[in-house]
Amino acid sequence: LDNGLNLTPQMGFNNWNSTWCGAQFNEDMIKGIADLFVSKGLKAAGYQYVNLDDCWALPLRDAEGNLVADPVRFPSGIKALADYVHGKGLKFGIYSSAGIHTCDVKGFPGGLGHEQQDANLWASWGVDYLKYDNCNNMGIDAQKRYKTMGDALKKTGRPILYSICEWGSTGPWNWAAPVGNSWRTTGDISDTWQSMISIAQANQGLANYAKPGAFNDPDMLEVGNGGMTATEYRTHFSLWAEMAAPLMIGTDLRMAEPETFEILTNADVIAVDQDPLGKQGSVVSSANGLVVMSKPLADGSRAVTLTNEGSYDATITTTAQTVGIGGANSYTVKDLWSKKSTTGDGTISATVPGHGTAMFRVTPGSPVSPPTGMTYLSDLPFKSVTNYWGPVERD
Ligand code: GLA
Repeated sequence: LDNGLNLTPQMGFNNWNSTWCGAQFNEDMIKGIADLFVSKGLKAAGYQYVNLDDCWALPLRDAEGNLVADPVRFPSGIKALADYVHGKGLKFGIYSSAGIHTCDVKGFPGGLGHEQQDANLWASWGVDYLKYDNCNNMGIDAQKRYKTMGDALKKTGRPILYSICEWGSTGPWNWAAPVGNSWRTTGDISDTWQSMISIAQANQGLANYAKPGAFNDPDMLEVGNGGMTATEYRTHFSLWAEMAAPLMIGTDLRMAEPETFEILTNADVIAVDQDPLGKQGSVVSSANGLVVMSKPLADGSRAVTLTNEGSYDATITTTAQTVGIGGANSYTVKDLWSKKSTTGDGTISATVPGHGTAMFRVTPGSPVSPPTGMTYLSDLPFKSVTNYWGPVERD
């Protein structure tokens, strides 16, 4: 959607994968997450949106037809919560459904027929992001329903990232790019290897549809929720970055292990996801559960993933040529998890454990070092350069 938002995939938090509709989804949780975004370096790493999912509202609208926040979960109200999140330099998001009720069995009110009223209310609260679900849609055409809300959001005059959540059922990659900033491509993820990898496989074929402002969404992250091994979570995070997917943290960070923070703040992997070119990586080879993907990056590098979908160690090998950047004399290959760099002929190879992923940034050329005893001007600190005419300033 050409609203100036989401030029790279959204990064943030959403409570659903850790709480569902449980009572622990409340004001304290959301404030605690916003605090941790700042104190644990997640904000610095690029995470921005702190979002509510289903169950934030009361089951009935008020006498004027307005949505009302659940006063038990959110005693201070949503506006105060949004203010709190904004006070941390972060953005705030909310949830509804393009139907008469949301998806939870308790059936909270949906936005169908109330689009402008709800959009205006959210804008007045300072909402920056809407996740708009697809339940209880009365069989009305999805494109129509999602466009009506998109128009309503636009009319508020507030920039609101629009996340379409219709689960891939009507092929949103074919119609949603002008309507929303991202669209779910599959059913809901759960915290298992099988769920995560099958969603990755379904999303892998859709690379051509992703672009700045409009991304495929294979659903929110399960990293840290306990149902997968650390190796599997690294695969999850690597593949989501490789596919330019939204990076929406789905674990309750107040209880997260250091390892979870380590995965979620891997700056090299995040840089792949957030590369300004905004291209989704695609599969360049796949055989016997050994899958190689390549993602073009703005500086001419490629991000390459080697994924072992099988259960036992396997060596996976590819070449610069195969991943789309053949022809250079040498290549720098940086392992984005171990951080080791090597220079060579562009062979990319790793022994990958079962369910693991090795991820590399492959750049044509070798890093050039100056002759012994000399330093490049660009490596000197600001204002410290002395040349033939005396000290000069460099910026
Ligand atoms: C649907 C969505 C989920 C979540 C729930 C909430 O299943 O796909 O991501 O928002 O509804 O009820």
